[in-house]
Amino acid sequence: MKRNFNLNELPQKQKDDQSSSINATKLYTMYVIPFSRSFAYLTIKDRIPQILTKAIDTLHRHKNEMFEKHGEKGIEAEKKAISLLSKLRNESQTDKPIVPLVEKFADTDIWNQYLEHQQDLLNDSDGKPRWFYSPWLFVECYMYRRIHEAVIQSPPIDDFDVFKESKEQNFFESQESIMALCIHLRELMQIIEHLDENQLKNEFFKLLQISLWGNKCDLSLSGGESSSQKTNVINSLEDLKPFILVNDMEHLWSLLSNRKKTREKASITRVDIVLDNSGFELVTDLILADFLLSSKLATEIHFYGKMIPWFVSDTTIHDFNWLIEQVKYSDHKWVSECGANWENYVKMGRWVYHDHIFWTLPHEFCAMSQVAPDLYAELQKAHLILFKGDLNYRKLTGDRKWQFTVPFHQALNGFHPAPLCSIRTLKAEIQVGLQPGQGEQLTASEPNWLTTGKYGVFQFDGPL
Ligand code: F6P
Ligand code: MG
Repeated sequence: MKRNFNLNELPQKQKDDQSSSINATKLYTMYVIPFSRSFAYLTIKDRIPQILTKAIDTLHRHKNEMFEKHGEKGIEAEKKAISLLSKLRNESQTDKPIVPLVEKFADTDIWNQYLEHQQDLLNDSDGKPRWFYSPWLFVECYMYRRIHEAVIQSPPIDDFDVFKESKEQNFFESQESIMALCIHLRELMQIIEHLDENQLKNEFFKLLQISLWGNKCDLSLSGGESSSQKTNVINSLEDLKPFILVNDMEHLWSLLSNRKKTREKASITRVDIVLDNSGFELVTDLILADFLLSSKLATEIHFYGKMIPWFVSDTTIHDFNWLIEQVKYSDHKWVSECGANWENYVKMGRWVYHDHIFWTLPHEFCAMSQVAPDLYAELQKAHLILFKGDLNYRKLTGDRKWQFTVPFHQALNGFHPAPLCSIRTLKAEIQVGLQPGQGEQLTASEPNWLTTGKYGVFQFDGPL
């Protein structure tokens, strides 16, 4: 890729925005933009080929297994998937045009319409968006959707999850921390009835923070390389507090504890959790969800996962069930009790898992009511929605280069299905709702503060 970046290759609107100074009040969509030093550019240039190479290697290593399961057909399919992924890697590295999806799947038409829309925004010679001249969110989502296409084009291995192994490895490598958390939860359950208001609030805050820092463990930032939790995070919570840049935990407590006090006996409090990564992070989310039920701060929890393998470590229904089963079959009595309880919650319908194709589209969430009105209506039934992770934050805020002090409510751009909170460690150059000067101060002292996962937020939007 030896071309120089040319502003003329961006859509007119983006040209205007990009050429105006960084300090301009105008917001603009995050573009990849070759030869910039942006995190977006580094993701597409370095991280994407690395993730594709790892996926290809995984297929290679499972060759024997495919042969045992499907005979020669399995080997043929493995070769085909590898060649499609190698082609994809080449397309991205050489900045080829982004081509429409070909294989029929539930969302193929929506993707291709979205791509056409990108094309309409362009006015360069061949009129085709390319890997390095497109909105970052779009290209990154497109890459994962193309990985899925390569696999579904290769029956009989069309249900193979190229990231499954890494997700499982993350879980196994985090065993000690998982055990510590499960023991903590079981101990808490034994005294929960006797806790006063303040003690219950403290426990709630602890588990919220554990869920926040669990989000450090995603495998997309690390290019698919291991990113597990090896230490007991409970002991680090106090030390990590200064890294919470926006802390709206009090609002979450007020909302749920007031509802608990005032709700009728028969009425419900529903908390929805839009999940992010499987492995250690999912354990922290399930522990929080268990606590919400046991403390009666909520009466039912609804989870949302991904329908296809996504951003390496994101949770699918398979990961969700697999992890609960692993915890249930643990050798440690208390850990195993946690797994058994979780399985029961699912059976009793107190935990409900939802799939929806919208979560693996490139659309920002303000488009949900138009693109997926059924999902929007489902979320409207919640009393509180927790959005886990960085990608959800990018989609909540439209992946725009907002000024740091822009209110979160404004960045949501009309997306308000119910009171909501983003629980996210920062791994992309987007942050809103900061105090004046806070962002600038961080930039001066730590130039990479937005992308390392060191900082986190609890950012609430809803009636106070
Ligand atoms: O590949 C980079 C990225 O899009 C970052 O925004 C973030 O590091 C990651 O993918 C996804 O993070 P999360 O799992 O928290 O959504
Ligand atoms: Mg993720």
